[in-house]
Amino acid sequence: MNKQTYTATTMAGLEEVLAQELIEIGADEVQIGRRSVYFSGDSKLLYKANYCLRTALRILVPVDSYKIYSADDLYQRAKNFKWEDLFGCDQTFAVQSAVFSDLFNNSMFASLKLKDAIVDRFRYKVGNRPSIDSKNPDILINLHISNEFCTISLDSSGESLHKRGYRVGQNDAPMSEVLAAGLIRLSDWDRKGNLIDPMCGSGTIAIEAAMLANRIFPGKIRKKFAFQNWNSFDPELYRSMVNEVEAEVPAPVKVFASDILRRNIDIACKNAEEAGVDRFIEFKVSDFKLLEPVAEKPFLLFNPPYGERLTPEDTNFYGMIGERLKHHYTDATVWIISTPQCLKSIGLRPSRKISILNGSLECSFRKYELYSGSKKSR
Ligand SMILES: C[S@@+](CC[C@H](N)C(=O)[O-])C[C@H]1O[C@@H](n2cnc3c(N)ncnc32)[C@H](O)[C@@H]1O
Repeated sequence: MNKQTYTATTMAGLEEVLAQELIEIGADEVQIGRRSVYFSGDSKLLYKANYCLRTALRILVPVDSYKIYSADDLYQRAKNFKWEDLFGCDQTFAVQSAVFSDLFNNSMFASLKLKDAIVDRFRYKVGNRPSIDSKNPDILINLHISNEFCTISLDSSGESLHKRGYRVGQNDAPMSEVLAAGLIRLSDWDRKGNLIDPMCGSGTIAIEAAMLANRIFPGKIRKKFAFQNWNSFDPELYRSMVNEVEAEVPAPVKVFASDILRRNIDIACKNAEEAGVDRFIEFKVSDFKLLEPVAEKPFLLFNPPYGERLTPEDTNFYGMIGERLKHHYTDATVWIISTPQCLKSIGLRPSRKISILNGSLECSFRKYELYSGSKKSR
């Protein structure tokens, strides 16, 4: 089978965990980029990457890359490309662009040039043209221009892979599924149990943890990937990949999740059901101020509420978290993501600090180790 190079995109700070995931699924020539990881493999690996990866946003397949010196260069070369080999004129398509070049005033114009080239190519070769559907296209084309370097890729995922399909309800500030999966991997959780999210909101961290530990892949829930619309799609190869990855069923691993609001727990339960992990998660309504650990060596991973600015209420709230951990969670490993300002008020010394972006907000993901001897964090 032919080997090709691919680009998996991700969030800033998750490049290394994504590279690790790619190595685990058998990718070759794994190389870390900016918010992306390059790798190579055959078509089966491409299907597997979409089905299994938890920290990737999209998997792009570069189909042409060249130097351009004008907008017309983009058009001419794209018009000579054999688009009719990749998809049919009865299918819809869309172009997504990221342009960092003086050759174009805006990325919309670059997208338009590429769209025109594709449509004109079909008209010339097939006598008919595919339609544009910017919301739900069958074929998604990615255009990346950096100075004079232009890369055109097919987006094999279609809708971003963070949209797992299990989020039927959400609270005010749900965490991205890809970020939750990334934090779990960045932490040193042994995937054997006792993970607790005591401020679970819509349940993303608990659901992603239960999926990871119980080998439930995001692709199992997802309805469709864009590569299934390509002329080259091989359903038999896809089925054999799914059978292989689904063959191993590990011993069940339980995780625990609670939140102060019953409304959030109801949402989280529905999401967990949709993800097929409700049997692995024990949910309960509880104020963290009163929550007792469920295991001897608990492992906590959570994101407390935080805003852009620190308020006196935040200081008290984070102080409460620190006090509760110090006095009731001896022998616990605790990972918290929040803003550095909020985390200062916890009053515990972290043993690790990882900078990470949550949306556009600069956050810190910190590890606290609590020991029974002194009842103090080290
Ligand atoms: C930033 S949200 C967590 C979002 C969650 N990770 C998700 O993906 O939906 C913080 C959560 O902490 C909960 N919370 C606030 N104060 C709490 C407390 N004292 N005890 C337990 N949960 C609390 C809120 O109800 C909210 O759901």
